[in-house]
This record gives sequence, structure tokens and C-alpha cells, in this order.
Amino acid sequence: MAGGVVLNNGGGKDYPGKLTMFVLFACIVAATGGLIFGYDIGISGGVTSMNPFLMKFFPAVYRKEQEAEKNQSNQYCKFDSPLLTMFTSSLYLAALVASFFASTVTRVAGRKWSMFGGGVTFLVGAALNGAAKNVLMLILGRVLLGIGVGFANQSVPLYLSEMAPARLRGMLNIGFQLMITIGILCANLINYGTAKIKGGWGWRVSLALAAVPAAIIAVGALFLPDTPNSLVDRGHTDSAKRMLRRVRGTDDVEEEYRDLVAASEESKLVTHPWRNILQRRYRPQLTMAIAIPFFQQLTGINVIMFYAPVLFKTLGFADDASLMSAVITGLVNVFATFVSIVTVDRLGRRKLFLQGGTQMLACQIVVGSLIGAKFGFSGVANIPKGYAAFVVLFICAYVAGFAWSWGPLGWLVPSEIFPLEIRSAGQSINVSVNMLFTFIIAQAFLPMLCHFKFILFFFFGAWVVVMTLFIAFFLPETKNVPIEEMVLVWKSHWYWGRFIRDEDVHVGADVEMPAAANGGKVDPAKLAN
Ligand code: BGC
Repeated sequence: MAGGVVLNNGGGKDYPGKLTMFVLFACIVAATGGLIFGYDIGISGGVTSMNPFLMKFFPAVYRKEQEAEKNQSNQYCKFDSPLLTMFTSSLYLAALVASFFASTVTRVAGRKWSMFGGGVTFLVGAALNGAAKNVLMLILGRVLLGIGVGFANQSVPLYLSEMAPARLRGMLNIGFQLMITIGILCANLINYGTAKIKGGWGWRVSLALAAVPAAIIAVGALFLPDTPNSLVDRGHTDSAKRMLRRVRGTDDVEEEYRDLVAASEESKLVTHPWRNILQRRYRPQLTMAIAIPFFQQLTGINVIMFYAPVLFKTLGFADDASLMSAVITGLVNVFATFVSIVTVDRLGRRKLFLQGGTQMLACQIVVGSLIGAKFGFSGVANIPKGYAAFVVLFICAYVAGFAWSWGPLGWLVPSEIFPLEIRSAGQSINVSVNMLFTFIIAQAFLPMLCHFKFILFFFFGAWVVVMTLFIAFFLPETKNVPIEEMVLVWKSHWYWGRFIRDEDVHVGADVEMPAAANGGKVDPAKLAN
């Protein structure tokens, strides 16, 4: 096989080329699409706990909360208002629907226009929210923000995974998650500041500042080149080849180019990606597109992200201290993400998933037990400072575990496993399942805390056990495997292999031959030689 093919761990080959500044820069710009999602996750909880905001838009909620504050009895049942959580989570429903439309834009017009569209819509939403005079403007703004998130989360991970050289794909893709965590942290810090604004308009600043990340990705997208994969697929073969040379920093791109063309030809046979994705041979990818985002949300991470201030207040921290603790978890979230950036292409995805899952489980057991031991089922207790600090410590260790496993990998893995013909559709399923369960958990957490009490931590812990076993048995390692060759990985998996017929394996001319010579068994290690 021409072109310096080397055998590498995951299977498949390594195309020539290096990490060029061009790719690095393009990936950094595209990754900023994660800022809008993160900003929103971080901003809502703080804003909805600001009294002027509640008094203006949700006076009934405000009164109920004041009453609950007065008769401080059961700590588990504070602040439970479906109307308010509905406001927060309307965004996720909008994002869910939008990601399906984004799928078509991403496929037909290219990845960059989806990012641009997402940025602009989010920008308008931020303006509406910042200037909101009534609940209608507020909700309309939320819906636009949601559409923006739907488009960005659909296109950015795909863009990053297609642009990156295979052996650095994990690192570059996780730029998206890094931006999400930075968005969350900035939002927490901003809320911390705006909550102190005396005039009662601090919430407007918090909501309007969402325009900043929106402008960054909207303007950035205009300058982004499209991915070679998308260019080939849309018939721009010459520009695709030129782009491939440019992004790989070498003229020796024939082999990768041929694989892209083969992938694109395959994709041309598919007129209905949505119907197609249901075919038996795509069952492994479809399963992952549903299971991974579902499990990511069932780790319970957004209980911390959305409700950290409430949670810390429940633990007996004063207002300021509880916000500060939320900022601490935000910092841990950002820094722990770097661990996965550095290790994901060396250790691989599976090791991080398994380690992170185990760590989260241990922390959930400790946190649940610590809270249970003090509050019991009655929810009445006075927690000493040192004890509460100990709980925060374990919550931080839990966040760190998530930040180097399910956080980044929940976006990376689905974006790298689909063949081109169903990639856009598959990513939409990933985004929409993620949004659906973000919504459900945001909606259900407070009533659940009220009814399950400290058992809630064990509930999410049990899910972490399930998902860790799922990864151990069903997720093959995908590190270093070129994206248009991923089918080989599924074909050689002990369980998923049976869903893929040998005729279904097309990865360019080079690699089909040995499959036949090998009695139809595809062995990626052999193929690479
Ligand atoms: C998840 C979000 C979560 C965030 C926390 C993301 O990967 O999709 O739901 O809030 O990580 O950092």
C-alpha cells in the first residue's frame, strides 16, 4: 500500500500528513461553537435564582420561594417549581427539534453554514432575552437560543472530527467540550458579578452577554474552510483535494483522497439518510447514537451544572459561599478536560470511559452516604462547615471524572463512528437524544430530590454502573482509526460484527482485497500492513 501506511493500535492506516497551523486554527475557531451551549448551561440556574428576575416574570414562583425560605423545614424540597424549570428547559426542546433541520443544512450546504446559522440565531435570541419585557419575549428568546445550540452541536463535532488527522482527532474534537466548560465557567462568574448589581437589572446583563460567544462563532464560521469530506460529498472534488493538501500540510494525500471519494460514492447511493440509518448494517452506530447521549445525561452531571448553587445552599452554605462552590466545580470541570485532551489519543476512549465511570460511581456513593448520614430522610440538619467542604470535595472529584470521560467522549465518539452517508443524520440523533434527556433531568431533578432524597445520588450511581458495563462490552476502541474506515472497527467487533456483511465493507480500493483473501473476515491489523 502506498503512502507510508503504518500499523496502529485501533486498526486501519495512518495517512501521511502533520498537524498544520491551518487545521489547528480552524479547529480552535470551530470549537468556539461550544461556548454558546456552555454559556447557556451555566447562566440559567443563576438567573432564575435572582429575585428581581423572578419578581418580574414569575411572581408566583417568587412568593412560593419566599414562603419556603421562611418555614425552612425539609431541605430536600426547596425551590420546586415546574413553571420555572420549564422556562430553563424550553431551550433544550427547541435544540432537539432544530438539530433535525441542521442535519440537512450540514449535509447539503456544508458544516460551516450550520455553525454560522447557529451563531446568528443564538445572537438574536440573546438580544431578545436581554431586552425582555414580558414572558413571551423571554420564551421566544430561549427558543432561538435553543435553535442556535441545535445547529452548533450538530455541526461542530462533525467538523472537528473530519478536519483532524486521525491520530489527533480526539484531542482536536475535545476542543468543543473544552469550550463548553469554559462557557459554563464564564457564565457562573458573570452571574456571580451581576447578582450583586443593585438596580435589579443584573439578569439582563447575564442574558445579553450570551451575544458575545454567539458573535464569536458566527463571525468565526465565515472564515472557516469547509471539510474535505463535505466538499467531496457536495461535488467540489478539486477544491476538496486542494483543501486536503492544505489541511494535511503535504501533497501526498492521494490515498486519503481516494478513501474520501469512495466514502462519498457510497453516500451517493443513499437518498434517504433517515430511512437508511435504520438498516441492519448501521445498527451498531445507531445504538451508540442513542445510548451514548442517553447515558451521558444519566450520569447526573447536569444536576451539578444546573443546580450547584441550589445544591450547595441545601448543604447549608450561605448564598455567596454556594455560588463560590459552584465556581469551584466550574474550574475543576475546565481543568479536568485537559486530562482527556492529552490522553484521549494515547490511552484511547475506552480507558477514559472506564476510569471516569469508576471514579464517578465511587464519588456518588460517598456523596450520597455523607448527605444521607446527616439529613437522613427527614431532610432536617445543620451541617458543620468542615463536613460540607468534604462533600464539595467529592462532588469536585465526580465532576473531574465526568470531565475526562463522558463529557468530551459523549460528543467525540458519536461524531467519529458514522459513515459519511448517515453522518449528519446520526449526529442529529445524538444531539436530540442528548437534549431530550438534558430536558427530562432538568425538569425532574427538583421533584426527584424532594422524593428520593439522598437516594438520588445512588440512583445516578446505578446508571453509571450500567453505562460502564455497556462500554466495556459494546464500545470498540476508535482511537487513531481514520474516520472513513471506521466500518472496519465495527466489522471486527465480537458482537457488532454480525450486523455487517462483508459486502457492506467499502473503504477504498486498497483494503477490500485482503478481506476477500481472508475468507471474508476483515482484520484491520492485517489491512494496515
Ligand atoms: C454535556 C452537558 C454538560 C457539560 C458539562 C457536556 O458534555 O453535554 O450536558 O452540562 O458537558 O461540562
